[in-house]
Amino acid sequence: MRNKITVVGAGNVGASCAAWLAERELGDVVLVDIPQTGTMPMGKSLDLLQTGPIYRFNTHLTGATDYGPTENSDVVVITAGFPRKPGMSREDLVGKNQEIITDVMAKVTSASPNAIVIVVTNPLDTMVYLAHRLSGWPRSRVFGQAGQLDSARMAAFIAMELNVSVDNIQASVMGGHGDEMVPLVRYTTVAGVPIGDLLPADRVQAIVDRTRKGGGEIVNLLGTSAYYAPGAAAARMVEAILKDQKLILPCSVVLEGEYGLKDIAFGVPVKLGRGGMEQIIEVKLDENEKAVLQKSVDLIRGSMSALKM
Ligand SMILES: NC(=O)c1ccc[n+]([C@@H]2O[C@H](COP(=O)([O-])OP(=O)(O)OC[C@H]3O[C@@H](n4cnc5c(N)ncnc54)[C@H](O)[C@@H]3O)[C@@H](O)[C@H]2O)c1
Repeated sequence: MRNKITVVGAGNVGASCAAWLAERELGDVVLVDIPQTGTMPMGKSLDLLQTGPIYRFNTHLTGATDYGPTENSDVVVITAGFPRKPGMSREDLVGKNQEIITDVMAKVTSASPNAIVIVVTNPLDTMVYLAHRLSGWPRSRVFGQAGQLDSARMAAFIAMELNVSVDNIQASVMGGHGDEMVPLVRYTTVAGVPIGDLLPADRVQAIVDRTRKGGGEIVNLLGTSAYYAPGAAAARMVEAILKDQKLILPCSVVLEGEYGLKDIAFGVPVKLGRGGMEQIIEVKLDENEKAVLQKSVDLIRGSMSALKM
């Protein structure tokens, strides 16, 4: 039996994610959108399916505007929702995207009651919290993608600065998926060497600042939010889950006392495997890191207060 992966939202991030999933042959892919999009999801999935003979993958892709074809999915990636435009923060999206996540979660939980759900919609941590609450499922099956993307951005900037392979870089970002995210310099290494030993403090700080504003940099260049790397980051999480890789990645999960936090979804390192989010890793933080993380907590709590529950 092949795995079934549903991607909800056939827009920029959803279609990009479907392309990465297909190419890696992780399972058959269903791309769903709202009926107002007409046959767009069918068109995109047929177009992607026709990439198979070129890149030699055997993934079957289907487009849909109802959840029938998604039934009993193993993993559901939710990319449905409004992206930000220049001048907007992710938090500006709460109201509109709450309505969308509420609609989507009702349909997903009914069609695929045993699925693992990866939320991508912004403001990410607030939407993860909402989706988890609406599902009534354990937090191990409803969590969100952000840290994988933020760490990848940091790694890309380090690779550009040092002219080394991205393969050598282990970058670590914690906290919310907002401009208050926390790139962890002490835990970021190049071939095992901390970046603080390789770069002067002002260059490290410039990389930290660029990482935190990495999403906004792309919004300003593109006029909408990023999608290739976000789609790839979500697909990488699906791969870790379906291949039971026990891969440690930063993800947004609902905390129940870890890091001294509860009743919030927050970006922390977790272990991903066939059970979904199988373990939360608690790394030691110094006082400065804790203080910066608190700003990230405050930003998320502010955005959560705009939820209508
Ligand atoms: N977590 C991250 O790292 C990250 C990164 C980039 C973008 N995002 C977020 O992902 C979301 C999608 O971004 P995008 O660029 O793909 O936007 P997009 O506008 O290109 O696509 C969104 C799609 O969602 C669909 N949609 C709307 N309501 C729906 C519903 N009720 N059910 C099913 N589909 C529905 C729309 O029709 C549209 O096709 C945004 O909220 C964006 O902010 C998150």
